[in-house]
Amino acid sequence: MPASTLFSSLILVSGLLSPSLAALYTNPSQLPRLTYDYIIVGAGTAGNVLANRLTENPKTQVLVLEAGVSDQGVLAAIVPFLGPTLTPGTQYDWNYTVTPQTGLNGRTFPFPRGRMLGGCSSVNYMVHQYGSSADFDKIAHLTGEPGWAWNNIKQNIYKHEKVVPPADGHNTAGQYIPANHGTNGILPVSLPGASQAIDARVIATTQELASEFPYSKDQGGGDVLGIGWVQSSIGGGKRSSSSSTYLADAIKRPNLSVLINAQVTKLAKTGTVDGKPSFRAVHFSCDQNTNPTVVHAKKETILAAGAFGTPQILQLSGIGDKADLTALNIKTIVNNPSVGKNLSDHVLMPNIFNVAGTASLDGLMRDTTLFSVALNLWNTTKTGTLANGIVSNLGFLRLPKNASIFATVPDPSSGPTASHWELIVANFFLYPGVATPSTGSFMTLISALISPTSRGSVTLASSNPFTKPLINPNFLTTAFDIYAIREAVKASKRFASAYAWAGYVLSPYGGLSATSDADIDAFVRETASTMFHPVGTASMTAKDAKWGVVDPDLRVKGVEGVRVVDASVFPFVPNAHTQGPTYLLAEKAAELIISSCQ
Ligand SMILES: Cc1cc2nc3c(=O)[nH]c(=O)nc-3n(C[C@H](O)[C@H](O)[C@H](O)COP(=O)(O)OP(=O)(O)OC[C@H]3O[C@@H](n4cnc5c(N)ncnc54)[C@H](O)[C@@H]3O)c2cc1C
Ligand SMILES: *[C@@H]1O[C@H](CO)[C@@H](O)[C@H](O)[C@H]1NC(C)=O
Ligand SMILES: *[C@@H]1O[C@H](CO)[C@@H](O)[C@H](O)[C@H]1NC(C)=O
Ligand SMILES: *[C@@H]1O[C@H](CO)[C@@H](O)[C@H](O)[C@H]1NC(C)=O
Ligand SMILES: *[C@@H]1O[C@H](CO)[C@@H](O)[C@H](O)[C@H]1NC(C)=O
Ligand SMILES: *[C@@H]1O[C@H](CO)[C@@H](O)[C@H](O)[C@H]1NC(C)=O
Repeated sequence: MPASTLFSSLILVSGLLSPSLAALYTNPSQLPRLTYDYIIVGAGTAGNVLANRLTENPKTQVLVLEAGVSDQGVLAAIVPFLGPTLTPGTQYDWNYTVTPQTGLNGRTFPFPRGRMLGGCSSVNYMVHQYGSSADFDKIAHLTGEPGWAWNNIKQNIYKHEKVVPPADGHNTAGQYIPANHGTNGILPVSLPGASQAIDARVIATTQELASEFPYSKDQGGGDVLGIGWVQSSIGGGKRSSSSSTYLADAIKRPNLSVLINAQVTKLAKTGTVDGKPSFRAVHFSCDQNTNPTVVHAKKETILAAGAFGTPQILQLSGIGDKADLTALNIKTIVNNPSVGKNLSDHVLMPNIFNVAGTASLDGLMRDTTLFSVALNLWNTTKTGTLANGIVSNLGFLRLPKNASIFATVPDPSSGPTASHWELIVANFFLYPGVATPSTGSFMTLISALISPTSRGSVTLASSNPFTKPLINPNFLTTAFDIYAIREAVKASKRFASAYAWAGYVLSPYGGLSATSDADIDAFVRETASTMFHPVGTASMTAKDAKWGVVDPDLRVKGVEGVRVVDASVFPFVPNAHTQGPTYLLAEKAAELIISSCQ
């Protein structure tokens, strides 16, 4: 059934699942005070980690301002398989659309972002991993700060993560490496909770075509290459979001206040310290017809509004490219042309195959009776297909060493142990924005570009904070990106042509039948979109770098009293779906903040 139909039927059955939250305010008049030690903008993935860690000290007063709604009782934010029904174009989404993409035949499409407690961690697809060790070592090298190196960062996995048994209780021996993982952290993570009819064929392919598609025992320990079992932010058959974990843990503390329906419209200059403007006043309101409320941070204002929200707020506050701001009559306080630039994202390319039989999940998604049986099973036992995420196997791969592109373009990957592309196996028709055909069974092999060299931007469309910014990821506009995604499409066809798929995979669906490079490129331009992993719009660089938005301690350059703690500070997209790296970043940021200010 179309996501929207599914979604509206779910609204009716929500409202029964979450405990009530104590210090969660819905109206500014409820706030206990207007001055706090720290004000965190955004109760998203990173923001809730900070809310928790900073209030471990009962003397520290923290306010979190969240533009979106509560996640309480939102069934689709709890039942893992229903995650994709939460966006795009719902009350839980910011409803962004990309500007016409020149690399994609001028197409535009939605770019979802969670607008509720938990941010994107409440609406994402729950793949949970941390990237390549080479990613963090490269960040340490670029910023000159050894604290970002993998050997340091990986320690935060143990604080963050709590590996729990999968929903179906299967034996996970050989499916991950326990030593890479935490069991005492905050966020439950598990291996797939329901077996899929194609699982055995995927694993057989990693044996049959081992030189191109080797088996990986664990992509969560810094070593990403190969294909294996996905780890997900799921525990006990339910989504683990930053809200259901970090925030739920901390919300009872008297020193934490969280206000929803509060959209921050700007930070205001409150003085000058050491020759730098300080921005310790935060303006917010619930909509453009309501006068803003102003709150003050004694210690720091922390932007955790995500890769689109953070650069938007910085620019609205007069911190950005002077030419851009002047054009909108915004007074520039800190001229920094890097704000909102260098946006980078993984590209998603669905390669769909017609398959035999009815063991794919397409039937479940079209048949309301099958679906209610599955929902009832989940409701009573927290097991079954709906207790699982949408994919069970994936992996990270490299282009061959002799790939022709390397004759003209340097290898953009983080290093020889990092990947260029990702293969994701879905047991159904997974094509964002396109409804499942009314008949047929499908398998989707997503090939995703992991080391893109295209860079885009997030710029203001207006000085009105309630007008959406212009989001231009500039997808597939470099020779490397076009080459790599083309080769990744070809490789996904080689994967599906292993003997392991004989009798199951019948034929390529739609444009996937293309064989010439030109036809594959045309298919890609017509089909590719976002993997939802934007970063780089408030990039971290060395203290003395000529560009960049934050220093290696995440303080905004040229500004006093403001840090950015969210995915916007990654200078490039890591070899991972981005929530895991963002959680590790936020844990590290909490240490930096606590050690410098308390
Ligand atoms: C559909 C989808 C699927 C995804 N799938 C996966 C996946 O399977 N695995 C994975 O690892 N990653 C996935 N991601 C990406 C991942 O979830 C994000 O990269 C990560 O969660 C970003 O964290 P963040 O803290 O930077 O931002 P967010 O989690 O987006 O938090 C930002 C918060 O700030 C709030 N905010 C923004 N502006 C304002 C303002 N002006 N005032 C007040 N509040 C504001 C937002 O509402 C939000 O709550 C997916 C994302 C999406 C959208
Ligand atoms: C997004 O669109 C939905 C559906 O139209 C709407 O309910 C919601 O308010 C919109 N969100 C924003 C932030 O505009
Ligand atoms: C924090 O707790 C102290 C006592 O433990 C109390 O005096 C103070 O008002 C609390 N702050 C907030 C923001 O609730
Ligand atoms: C974008 O990033 C590159 C490095 O990858 C840097 O040289 C350039 O200055 C950045 N651009 C801006 C506007 O910050
Ligand atoms: C779950 O079960 C309860 C009774 O145990 C029932 O009231 C509720 O409607 C069910 N919810 C769903 C989503 O089926
Ligand atoms: C790369 O090397 C392999 C064998 O190692 C060969 O089959 C392939 O044709 C080569 N590709 C290019 C582009 O040279």
